[in-house]
Amino acid sequence: MTIEERLMEQAKRAAQSTYSPYSHFPVGAALLTADGEVVQGCNVENISYGLTNCAERSALFSAISQGHAPGSFRALAVYAPNVSLISPCGACRQVMLELMAKDAVVICQGSDPAATRTWTLEQLLPGAFDAF
Ligand code: THU
Repeated sequence: MTIEERLMEQAKRAAQSTYSPYSHFPVGAALLTADGEVVQGCNVENISYGLTNCAERSALFSAISQGHAPGSFRALAVYAPNVSLISPCGACRQVMLELMAKDAVVICQGSDPAATRTWTLEQLLPGAFDAF
C-alpha cells in the first residue's frame, strides 16, 4: 500500500467520527506531518450552520494545536462517501495554502475510487492571496 493509500484509509476512519446531523454528509481527513505522523479530522456541524468546521480544517487545526509546525504538512487525504469525488471548499483551500508545505498534495476520494484525484495547492487555489 502506498503512503497515499494509507493516508486515505485514515481519512475513511476519520469520517466515522463525523458530527453531521444537518447535512448527513460525512467527511474525513488525514494529514501527514513532516515527521510522518498522521493527524485526523472530521466535519463538525452546529445548529447554527455557519459554525460548521470542515474535515480539512479540523485536521489542520488539530495538528497545529498538537504542536506541529505551520508550513510543514506534506499531504492531506480527504474522503466523503456521499459524493463520487469530493472537492475541498474555498475556505479550506485558503487555510491549506497557509498551513501546508508549498509542495504539499491534497488527495481526494469519494464513493468512486477510480475518480480519486491528487491536486497541488497551486491547482486548488491559483492566483491566491498569499503574503508568505
Ligand atoms: N465539508 C467538509 O467537511 N469538507 C469539504 O471538503 C466539503 C464540505 C462538510 C461541511 C458540512 O459539514 C458538510 O460537509 C456539507 O457541506
